[in-house]
Amino acid sequence: MKYNLANIKKAKFLLDRHECVAIPTETVYGLAANAYSDRAVNKIYKLKKRPSNNPLIVHYFNLNDLKRDCILNNDFLKLYKKFSPGPITYILKLKKNSKISKIVTNNKKNLAVRFPKHYIARKLLKSLNYPLAAPSANISSKLSPVCFQDVRDNFGNKLKLILDGGRCLVGLESTIISLFDNPRILRLGGLEVSKIKRILKKNILTKLSSSKISSPGQMRVHYSPGIPIRLNAKKPKKYEAYLLLKKNKKFIKNVYILSKNGDLKEAAKNLYKTLRKIRKDKFKSIAVRKIQNSGLGKTINDRLLRASKFNG
Ligand code: TXA
Ligand code: MG
Repeated sequence: MKYNLANIKKAKFLLDRHECVAIPTETVYGLAANAYSDRAVNKIYKLKKRPSNNPLIVHYFNLNDLKRDCILNNDFLKLYKKFSPGPITYILKLKKNSKISKIVTNNKKNLAVRFPKHYIARKLLKSLNYPLAAPSANISSKLSPVCFQDVRDNFGNKLKLILDGGRCLVGLESTIISLFDNPRILRLGGLEVSKIKRILKKNILTKLSSSKISSPGQMRVHYSPGIPIRLNAKKPKKYEAYLLLKKNKKFIKNVYILSKNGDLKEAAKNLYKTLRKIRKDKFKSIAVRKIQNSGLGKTINDRLLRASKFNG
């Protein structure tokens, strides 16, 4: 289904009636519902099989809309000006009179907020008088979807509507930064931490949830293509798919390249798509050649490390 106004209207129609709709964003596809409605938000948890103590990100059209629900601070405003709309999620304090459903936050006093850049998401948000809670549109612990068909593969006919916005340009989830005392990175993502540092001009702590055991609600196995992954492999075994950042003449058989010239942005965009392809090609396991641990390479390595914890 391609972008047209009728589809956006249909999405609005469903969302206004407390239904879920899958929407494209520039990072990954999201499973969206009215963030002010307990009834709507409950459906997200059910569809995704998501543990109820794992809070959701809420998507806004602009600052004015956000002001109804959250308390803004200087660090936030600096980052917002520079990076939003875009692949960054901020954790802010909720206002006491905010209308955000308690199910979204799992009763906590803070909220994860994001301003997606994709024109369809923006067009839709603009037409609504509530923000959209939207986790990635996958069953919990599976790979996030980066195109219409990925969402379809995940949910079959369980969704009333999936808006088709083509391939996601970033291809990895947003970077999450907590902003009420010292800035803290909670999840590496599509925006490099170095760029955030340059704007805030202060030290930024990184406290990623561990890939083994994690804070309540975090799944132990995340971003999993469902088959074992062996990291930093100098060469593949006979039966393994070999995933490389860039082309390497030494390896030809069963090889999957993230970016011909080793461009990290392109590699990030291709990561989930390539992992899905490897599984579709019926490989039982994946060997990964070392990927440089800088810029978006850090996010790629973070996802591969988490995916490698798959053990069954
Ligand atoms: O790019 C993205 O962020 C995508 C698109 C759809 O916007 N969304 C996404 O949502 O990745 P999800 O639910 O798959 O991941 C959100 C993460 C979860 O790990 C959740 O625990 C964390 O954000 N989170 C949500 N609210 C939080 C909060 N108040 N404090 C700390 N972590 C929070
Ligand atoms: Mg997710």
